[in-house]
Amino acid sequence: MTPDQHKAQAAQKAVEYVQDGHILGLGTGSTVLHFLTALGTRVQNGLHVKGVPTSQATADYATKLGIPLLNDDEPWDIDVAVDGADQVDPHLNLIKGGGGALLREKIVARAAKQFIVIVDAAKQRPQLGLPFPLPVEILSFGWSTTQRHLEKMGWNAPRREQAGNPFMTDNGHYIVDVQIPVIADPASLESAILQIPGVVECGLFVNMTSLVITGTDKGIQLSQTPNQPSP
Ligand code: A5P
Repeated sequence: MTPDQHKAQAAQKAVEYVQDGHILGLGTGSTVLHFLTALGTRVQNGLHVKGVPTSQATADYATKLGIPLLNDDEPWDIDVAVDGADQVDPHLNLIKGGGGALLREKIVARAAKQFIVIVDAAKQRPQLGLPFPLPVEILSFGWSTTQRHLEKMGWNAPRREQAGNPFMTDNGHYIVDVQIPVIADPASLESAILQIPGVVECGLFVNMTSLVITGTDKGIQLSQTPNQPSP
């Protein structure tokens, strides 16, 4: 099976956790597109849910599928947030932000009662770190000074580019991709990075995940923190 088939498998399983009346956090990325497609089919068949999108791309696709969305400034009471990840470690800590949506993704995941992560098998890693760099969202004001602070911690932190221009997030910020070989202590590293002025958010998601659904050649694999509800 291909990674995309693994993603689709995980997304199909995640839809089983959605119940009528739920407020849903809707993540960003290619795995979430599979989830939205499956969710859209259920909505077209009469399921009532409302979504909180984490990017303009997700909002656009959800709207196309007829999934109702809440406004950005409403007080959300999110039952389940579903999102992809770039890496997952055995403690269910994550690197996210490959698609540049990490800030809204973290706000929405933190606001959810349950945070379900859907991934293909290649995302499972014994430890977080390279080959996937850690995305960090930074203000454009003074960005090279913020970048220098990050590089003083010991790693290269190139600014993300897109078609020869700086990549810009939906929030009007830059991303630097910090090249850390091994992230031994994700919680401490997250705290240290968030203390740097100019850093808006860091792509480490520590102790936030309720359930990871992984698509594999042998079928779905579930990894969860204790006391989580079943579908
Ligand atoms: C978006 O910024 C990211 O956090 C994505 O959730 C992550 O990169 C996973 O993306 P894919 O589902 O496309 O692999």
